[in-house]
Amino acid sequence: MNSNTNSQIKNNHNKTGNFFLDVKKGLDSNPKRLSSKYFYDEVGDRLFQKIMAMPEYYLTQCELDIFQNKTADIANLIGFDNTPFDLIELGAGDAMKSTYLLKYMIDKGLDFTYMPIDISGNILSVLDQKLKKEIPDLKVTQLEGEYFQMLNKAASLSSRRKVILFLGGNIGNMELEEANAFCIGLKDHLNPGDRILIGFDLKKNPHTILNAYNDATGITAAFNLNLLTRINKELNADFNIEQFQHYQTYDPVSGACRSYLVSLADQVVNIDHTEIIFKENELIDMEVSQKFSETDIKELAKKTGFEIDGEIKDSRKWFIDSVWKFK
Ligand code: AVJ
Repeated sequence: MNSNTNSQIKNNHNKTGNFFLDVKKGLDSNPKRLSSKYFYDEVGDRLFQKIMAMPEYYLTQCELDIFQNKTADIANLIGFDNTPFDLIELGAGDAMKSTYLLKYMIDKGLDFTYMPIDISGNILSVLDQKLKKEIPDLKVTQLEGEYFQMLNKAASLSSRRKVILFLGGNIGNMELEEANAFCIGLKDHLNPGDRILIGFDLKKNPHTILNAYNDATGITAAFNLNLLTRINKELNADFNIEQFQHYQTYDPVSGACRSYLVSLADQVVNIDHTEIIFKENELIDMEVSQKFSETDIKELAKKTGFEIDGEIKDSRKWFIDSVWKFK
């Protein structure tokens, strides 16, 4: 057993400081905007769990289908030459999908260390407990902090080849230029021969996509509005949640699925002694969930210096896990 090698690396970050500055800057912009990376406080985490359980929200089922039923294909793409490696997962959370892969690769006797990166130390300890129980032979190094800082850490801890997992369609929460910069950033933290596996939600019937983000039950609306509640709680603000309304769009040409909050009145909101003025029907740009065609994915890989090494789709062909090789 080698689970005694498990370790936890921590990193100090000033969460509230950044949150406050980002919120002030975003609400000072035209159009006003807030970053969806702040959706995930305790209530937001719970609402996202509810979203993943909605029948309309197909993304989770699709990628789970891939990790449950095409496990060998993934393992062959990332464990190709039997050399030891570090498997780094960005925003691991509860690692629900990757656990299938981890189990499979341990059973096959592959030599690797699992390095989950997450901003939440709490989630990482829960994950560590779960993995100790379910896969006692798995070597785990928890990395708590921002992605790129923790990738530096991972590089300093071991010189083994790296495989990075970025699942869930999380890359879709970046504007296209940001996704570009992000992939180039990943490349700067890797060596030739390393691999990244990215989950992309594919362009499909636009009704299917819009329904996944515009549920009649209002869970996605609550998920967006919760960020205002979080700002009230953590940044001493006085948003009146009743005076804002969720509005969802999907543009099948660009593949951008966007959510907004609409101000239902002329109103003034105070955030820690700063007044923010809203006109009736003024928008806050909240989140983009970008959808990709297979050509879009090819172009992104090529532009950022990667080569597509393999692709695995779910049975409905709605979602793709694309494995890229650093040339
Ligand atoms: C967690 C980023 C993959 O954009 O589909 C779900 C978040 N937002 N419903 C997505 C989300 C609204 C989700 N990701």
